[in-house]
Amino acid sequence: MVATQVKHDVKDLSLAPLGKQRIDWAGREMPVLRQIQERFAQEKPLAGIRLVACCHVTTETAHLAIALKHAGADAVLIASNPLSTQDDVAASLVVDYGISVFAQKGEDNETYHRHVNIALDHRPNIIIDDGSDVVATLIQERQQQIPDLIGTTEETTTGIVRLKAMLRDGVLTFPAMNVNDADTKHFFDNRYGTGQSTLDGIIRATNILLAGKTVVVAGYGWCGKGTALRARGMGANVIVTEVDPVRAIEAAMDGFRVMPMEAAAPYGDLFITVTGNKHIIRGEHFERMKDGAIVCNSGHFDIEIDLKTLKSMASEVKQVRNFTEEYRLNSGKSIVVLGEGRLINLAAAEGHPSAVMDMSFANQALACEYLVKNKGQLEPGLYSIPTEVDQEIARLKLQAMGIAIDTLTDEQVEYMNSWTSGT
Ligand code: ADE
Repeated sequence: MVATQVKHDVKDLSLAPLGKQRIDWAGREMPVLRQIQERFAQEKPLAGIRLVACCHVTTETAHLAIALKHAGADAVLIASNPLSTQDDVAASLVVDYGISVFAQKGEDNETYHRHVNIALDHRPNIIIDDGSDVVATLIQERQQQIPDLIGTTEETTTGIVRLKAMLRDGVLTFPAMNVNDADTKHFFDNRYGTGQSTLDGIIRATNILLAGKTVVVAGYGWCGKGTALRARGMGANVIVTEVDPVRAIEAAMDGFRVMPMEAAAPYGDLFITVTGNKHIIRGEHFERMKDGAIVCNSGHFDIEIDLKTLKSMASEVKQVRNFTEEYRLNSGKSIVVLGEGRLINLAAAEGHPSAVMDMSFANQALACEYLVKNKGQLEPGLYSIPTEVDQEIARLKLQAMGIAIDTLTDEQVEYMNSWTSGT
């Protein structure tokens, strides 16, 4: 038994050495966050700040939590999904870094919500949220704590959609930083991060060959774009389904077949939902699918595949591999569901690679600093990451990648700022 004073609820503290080793490895790909951490260690911009981070507990999140600690924050980390926690990382954060963590892979929904409440008992001044569960709980159940809050930051598209709904309903009474929409976040994390890690999760769960398969990608937002692009790169025939007409044109002009799910259902060998919306794959679609079709989700919540209906159509459900369940339908055919319909990239793989999380979490760290610097000066509402911050993260990343770019000449600057010279 490993002794520690730090409050925690993690699976097994003896996993800490493995977690430490993997956290160190991830750090090699996170030079931007490392530079921010070094400055934070000198300047302590979050000194005395009580902070709650609700994130996927991964090697990359470990680096964010460590940077926040160097900044002087008194941080508690909880899981933003019951299946995404890396138990060795959670153990190492407690044992090696003295950070309070409440997260266990496979925790049930009740434990998940208990952890959210433990985190709120910390009376946070800042909340880093991924999917907006902590903020929604604060607003619905802990109104009296809102005066403690300086602000929140949100990591993901689904959370931003929820924050916008809160704003419309007049319940967002504090500033919230929109990390997701920073260019250095969604262009890379949502597109290349989700693209690669989703296929990684599918392959780890099933070991299927993608070449020659028909893959149906539901949703052509940044995550869908990345997933479709990478599936094509692996030799799959990709069909995209969309509800947004502009995105549908984009997918068609990017060279994908576009059609409704109803039409795509009989073709797909593999279905991947990345829409952020509910019941994208429903009973009528399962009915039309091929025997052995595989379905999975890489959107934030486990609502995109209607598993309740699928269960009602099945005579038997059995686990056939880790994260892989076969539903034997009354009709005789089988449908295979990966990762219980939860985000497959974090359930069966390790989430987005460190090199993209480097920029996402640089945005998170700087957003926290921005909130503290501007404490009391920001009206309630949703704020973009300042362009200078986004650009600085891009410059640091390029530098770390060893890529130099041109700078505008004085003549070009003058041209860009003038309207008098035309034809
Ligand atoms: N979201 C997606 N991938 C992630 C990762 N590797 N760490 C934390 N959050 C993530």
